Amino acid sequence: MKTERILITGASGQLGTVLTKALQEKYGIDSVIASDLRENPNFEGHFEVLDVTNYDALQDCVIKYKITQVYHLAAILSANGEQFPLKTWDINMSTLFNVLEVSRLHGVNKLFYPSSIAVFGDEVECINTPQTSNLTPLTVYGMSKAAGENWVNYYHKKYGMDIRSLRYPGVIGYQSLPGGGTTDYAVDIYHKAVKEECFDCFLEATTMLPMIFMDDAIRATIELMDAPAENIKIRTSYNLAGMSFTAEQVCQSIKDIYPNFEINYKPDFRQDIAKSWPDSVDDSAAREDWGWKPKYDLSLITKEMIENIKTYYQLTTKI
Ligand code: SER
Repeated sequence: MKTERILITGASGQLGTVLTKALQEKYGIDSVIASDLRENPNFEGHFEVLDVTNYDALQDCVIKYKITQVYHLAAILSANGEQFPLKTWDINMSTLFNVLEVSRLHGVNKLFYPSSIAVFGDEVECINTPQTSNLTPLTVYGMSKAAGENWVNYYHKKYGMDIRSLRYPGVIGYQSLPGGGTTDYAVDIYHKAVKEECFDCFLEATTMLPMIFMDDAIRATIELMDAPAENIKIRTSYNLAGMSFTAEQVCQSIKDIYPNFEINYKPDFRQDIAKSWPDSVDDSAAREDWGWKPKYDLSLITKEMIENIKTYYQLTTKI
């Protein structure tokens, strides 16, 4: 059996932190090379400081470890991206081009590319947004992901590379903190609830967004990558759904556990980003092609988030 050697870019990010551990468990700790811009003492196993905008550095890393698979998670997210539009485009696209070219030239046969609900703009049906909707994103992050989806499809068709992709909803997890996204409020809110602090929400109460619990997001990634190649009929990116909720609904589910929890709505520029995204997405293609089914609903997420964040703060305050 061929030994897989897996490189993860952006491994210190919200998804990368958890996906690295999951891939280490699946393939063995020595088969996974986590990488990010800065050292990260929290990882066990191989870690490389790697700036993916640097083609030569990426190439050296792929050759050094005889990499066979890449999970390219490094990117600037939606809200941060709007502060530096041209820089965001440059970083998100140049890192993807470097990963595609180095992979093509050095025998990497399988790649994962994360896309996002940010590819949709305000011209789609916002409830159960179809897989094949017109993509007219209103953020640079969304534009880079929509373009990236077409590039990975191009490399698949032109060079036969096995590249797979998911349009993630907002990811909610207790294991890591998100950075610079519009859906991040739905993680911060739980931290404030556990610390018994009031939460200032940068979205309006009734803004509905598609979300997914971290465990479901990681399972979807691994199930997609494990599926037989002939089942992967969509080579741009699959719509992926967990559940959808508003800020008001997540607040209510927290109040079932912390009745005194308080929230203030102070919408800022991120409200416009959220408003341009779907309320929910239709993921029937993922269900049909590779058997996707989410497990977590809002009440289960609230229970898991609160229990685990509580344990985290108890442990850190004891030290
Ligand atoms: N969670 C991401 C963001 O808010 C969307 O992909 O930017």
